[in-house]
Amino acid sequence: MNMAAQGIAIVQAFEQDVLAGLAAPQKTLPCKYLYDEVGSRLFEEICTLQDYYLTRTEADIFAREIQAMAEAIGPQVTLIEPGAGNCEKAEPLLRAMLSPAGYFPLDISPEILLAARQRIQRRTPELPIRPVVGDFTSHSVWRELPEIPGRKVVFFPGSTIGNFTPEQAHALLSLFAEQLRPGDGLLLAADLVKDSVVLERAYHDSSHVTEAFNKNLLRRINRELDGSFNLDAFAHRAFYHRLRRRVEMHLVSLESQAVEVCGRQFHFDEGETIHTENSHKYTLAALKELLRSTGFQPQQYWTDHQQHYAIYYAEAV
Ligand code: AVJ
Repeated sequence: MNMAAQGIAIVQAFEQDVLAGLAAPQKTLPCKYLYDEVGSRLFEEICTLQDYYLTRTEADIFAREIQAMAEAIGPQVTLIEPGAGNCEKAEPLLRAMLSPAGYFPLDISPEILLAARQRIQRRTPELPIRPVVGDFTSHSVWRELPEIPGRKVVFFPGSTIGNFTPEQAHALLSLFAEQLRPGDGLLLAADLVKDSVVLERAYHDSSHVTEAFNKNLLRRINRELDGSFNLDAFAHRAFYHRLRRRVEMHLVSLESQAVEVCGRQFHFDEGETIHTENSHKYTLAALKELLRSTGFQPQQYWTDHQQHYAIYYAEAV
């Protein structure tokens, strides 16, 4: 599919997913829709917040261990990055890698991808870069990748895996494994289980950027799907669910109200919520088990001194 057709397919999927999600007993919206242009910018702002320890912890680990990671990956490898966004994490990795063979960033936002390609291409003109626009959880996007000779490594940083339930994470890593041959690799970052106060502060930051990020989804529905959400009638909520080992983000209806989307009416009780995002936290053991059960042999991991965050290198078997 070309980029324009892909764009239309994404708009139709948005409508279907929103209508189905708001009709469910526990209203829910797929978190991938949080990341439109405004949402992606708000998320980038979240990443700079003191309360949001994830990004800087990951950056510290990369800064310290990039050479070791590049060595684990090996020479002449094609790097594939699902959900690449602005591709800022791949750049230093590609520079540290020994004669990288190519870079395939996958993302739903063509604007961000194309800007990133220009930036990277200016700095490394020899490196073949082929952005692919689409949803990396769908098999069809992966079919668009050409046959790649040589070794491949899937690069999945940012703790994006946290957005997936254990079942979904299992399906996603299995999908990655399907694209790989034995000896190919996966570099996977995940946020680790920790004190709930630290976790909850990261998703309920004192500058209210996460609140704006969460509510932007309603603004997007208003704009793209002719919605009538009153943003002041909903509140941002984020809490750590110990048993499910995840932070859940919700939007809470502050009153009994009706909202229209695409000409359909949805009722909200006072206190009723829309579940908008999960952010799963892993133990090192759970991460290892997830890799093993999806066709990978865990090789090596890197973490920070507080063990807040981990980056795992695993090989496809
Ligand atoms: C992009 C999934 C890593 O779960 O920490 C941050 C998304 N949502 N604050 C995360 C997010 C609210 C983020 N990930």
